[in-house]
Amino acid sequence: MAYFYSEPSRTFNEYLLLPGYTGEDCVPDRVSLVAPLVKYRRGQEECPFSLNIPMVSAIMQSVSNDTMAVALAKEGGLSFIYGSQSVEDEADMVRRVKNHKAGFVVSASNLTPDATLADVLALKARNGFSTVAVTEDASPNGKLLGIVTSRDYRVTRMSPDVPVRDFMTPRDKLITAPAETSLKEANDIIWDHKLNTLPIVDQDDHLLYFVFRKDYAEHKEHPLSLQDEQKRYMVGAGINSRDYERRVPALVEAGADVLCIDSSEGHSVWQKKTIDFIRERYGDRVKVGAGNVVDREGFLFLAEAGADFVKVGIGGGSICITRETKGIGRGQATALIEVAKARDEYFEKTGVYVPVCSDGGIVQDHHITLALAMGADFVMLGRYFARFDESPTPKLMINGQYVKEYWGEGSNRARNWQRYDLGGKDNLAFEEGVDSYVTYAGSLQDNVAKTLYKVKSTMCNCGVTSIPALQKEARLTVVSSTSIVEGGYHDVTLRATMGKE
Ligand code: IMP
Repeated sequence: MAYFYSEPSRTFNEYLLLPGYTGEDCVPDRVSLVAPLVKYRRGQEECPFSLNIPMVSAIMQSVSNDTMAVALAKEGGLSFIYGSQSVEDEADMVRRVKNHKAGFVVSASNLTPDATLADVLALKARNGFSTVAVTEDASPNGKLLGIVTSRDYRVTRMSPDVPVRDFMTPRDKLITAPAETSLKEANDIIWDHKLNTLPIVDQDDHLLYFVFRKDYAEHKEHPLSLQDEQKRYMVGAGINSRDYERRVPALVEAGADVLCIDSSEGHSVWQKKTIDFIRERYGDRVKVGAGNVVDREGFLFLAEAGADFVKVGIGGGSICITRETKGIGRGQATALIEVAKARDEYFEKTGVYVPVCSDGGIVQDHHITLALAMGADFVMLGRYFARFDESPTPKLMINGQYVKEYWGEGSNRARNWQRYDLGGKDNLAFEEGVDSYVTYAGSLQDNVAKTLYKVKSTMCNCGVTSIPALQKEARLTVVSSTSIVEGGYHDVTLRATMGKE
């Protein structure tokens, strides 16, 4: 007979944390959110790769490209570049993150001298940048002929068809710096010459980057940024259990710091084979996470197969319809609690601590705190990051509201059949995800700061200042459906709605 669990599987919303004793030192500024990303012998060695904040972005087309990866690494987290693209395109995205020099920006607005003032204005309206590079071929790395900023034209006095060559600041009037210039040197030049923009050029006078006056200050605003030994931003990359023999070497060569097998269900021989390939070829040098699983057996299987971290969650994602279409999955909280317990037992037995990532279903900021308290080391989020300026999808105005597009990897739009593949045919047999909109929320930096301040405040209420302490000390309670009603405002009329009913 089939096995029946006696308890229902539960979601984050069904739990609350109880406060603990808060001492004088327990203030948000003193809370560390450092989290291990890969397995290590806890108590005997340092974790070789930790996150500075416990957040990673989902392995999805509508979430994690190179722009997202740079923005999140600046805050101390990590993106996993999506694997549902060609090996070459994914490796290029990884390369762009690794080649990104903090404060050095590849020019986003570029025209030839034959373009007109109308073209400049159209470009500015489209992407919001007021500095335009004038290059021989309108490419970001073409031969530099001049630049145009809003100081160079007056819309009210000039005809829209004036060519750029007539009002740009020409090359011979520009102060530039060579490729090897450091950020500090660039800033000194900007300061000495009272510049707003410093073009960095190679020996053939091709434009490489701009350094903007404001970016230097911005760089200093990111004390937690996640960088490798060469001060490059760190980045992860998704792989699948089909083309790993080609994809893994390309991503490693491009500089990916960690890989993750992206699959809707990870308790499978295919994941073991993928990890075996990596271990045979690279030993422990290449780090790889695996998943997703929702129970003890799944965790132990992947830990024993050699995964560097294990991802938990089936069916809880905001765009996910796996539970409806296939009838498999488990409430995220229950899945996480069981896996975290198995992880702790595995550590007791082997001395190896395998970090656990809670993937999907985070709706409220406090769900992050709950996930950490339940034993997650870090969380993976899709919908959360899709709402920000830095996600790869366009910002649209729909019914008077700004939104961004967000679609599942199992949707027909993403066509990521490898993620759902069980060794069958090479296509997507049915959809497991939807194509949707999410409400636009502004910049990643502002939102992550707000979210993490809430996490830290709750941790202080619980009397802890680190994630391991929260995992150890937290006390959680299941809430009844009536106490959920009690938890929102109730039995009052909001002043904002008074008279409008
Ligand atoms: P979210 O943060 O709730 O939006 O969930 C994001 C997670 O959903 C991802 O990290 C994936 O694990 C999962 N996911 C992504 N695309 C799909 C899909 O099409 N169907 C089911 N799950 C998906």
